[in-house]
Amino acid sequence: MNEARKKVTIMTLRGMKQRGEKAVYLTAYDYPLALLADRAGVDIILVGDSLAMTTLGYKTTLPVTMDEMISHAKAVVRAVQYAFVIGDMPYMSYQPSDRDAVLNAGRFIAEAGCDAVKLEGGARVASRIRAIVDAGIVVQGHLGLTPQNMGQLGGYRVQGRTQHGFEVLLADALAIQEAGVSSLLLEAMPPETAAAIKERLDIPVYGIGAGDKTDGQLVIIHDMLGLFEQFTPKFVKRYLNGGELICNAIQEYCGDVRAGRFPSPEHFYDIAGSEAEKILNSARESGAQRR
Ligand code: KIV
Repeated sequence: MNEARKKVTIMTLRGMKQRGEKAVYLTAYDYPLALLADRAGVDIILVGDSLAMTTLGYKTTLPVTMDEMISHAKAVVRAVQYAFVIGDMPYMSYQPSDRDAVLNAGRFIAEAGCDAVKLEGGARVASRIRAIVDAGIVVQGHLGLTPQNMGQLGGYRVQGRTQHGFEVLLADALAIQEAGVSSLLLEAMPPETAAAIKERLDIPVYGIGAGDKTDGQLVIIHDMLGLFEQFTPKFVKRYLNGGELICNAIQEYCGDVRAGRFPSPEHFYDIAGSEAEKILNSARESGAQRR
C-alpha cells in the first residue's frame, strides 16, 4: 500500500472538506471485511447497528445490544490501520439518559478502541450529544431516515421532500451542530435537501441515499458486495454479486466432497513411509487382538 498513508483523524476529515475532497465511507462489521476495506483505501468505517440485519439476521436494527456492538467494533478495530472507525450507538444505549449515553459512548472508545460514535436524532438528543462531547468523545450526528425511529417515521420513508420537511431537518442539524457533533450523516433524502443542509453547516456532511453534493458517501458493505438479498435500496450500486459467487463456490465444494474429488493428495500432510508402515502394522495388530 501507499507508504505515505496516515491514520485518518477528525482533522483529516475537516481538511478533506476544506479541499473539496470526497470522503469514502463504508460499513464493516467483522475482521476480514474491515481488513479489506481498510486495505482498499476507505477513509471512514462505520460499525453500524445495521449489523443487526446484515450480520445477525434480525428484521430491524432495534434488537442489537451494546455488548454485541462492542464485540463487532473490537473485531473491526483490530483489522483497521488507517480508516477513522465510528461505533454506532444502538437503540436504547443513549435514549434513556445523558448518563447512559456517556457510559455507552465511552465503551466504544475505551473497550473497542473506536475513534468516534454516531447516534441518531436532532434537537431532542442535543443534551445526549453535549454530554458525550463533554466526556471528550467525537460524535457524528445522523438525520433523515433514522431507522431507530422507524415507528414514528411510518416505516423506511424518504425524508425532506417538502419545504416543511427540509426546515425540520435543518433546525435539527443546526441544533446538533451547536451541541457539538463533529460531522453529520444524512440518510435518504433528495440531493437538493442534503445540499441545502450542507450549505448551512460548518462540519463535514456525509450522505447515504442523499445525492452527490455531500462531503462524502456511505454505503452498507453487504449492499455493495451483493451479500444482503432481503432488499436493495434505490441508492445502492452493486459492485459484486458476492452472494451468488459465494454460493457457487460452496456448491462446488459440496460436489467435490460428495464425488471424492476433495481432499486430494496435495491437501494431505506428509508422513515418512516407515512411520506410515508402523501405524498400519500397529492398527492390524490391535485389530487382531480384539478378534
Ligand atoms: O447502521 C448503519 O449502517 C447506519 C447507516 C444505515 C446509516 O446507521
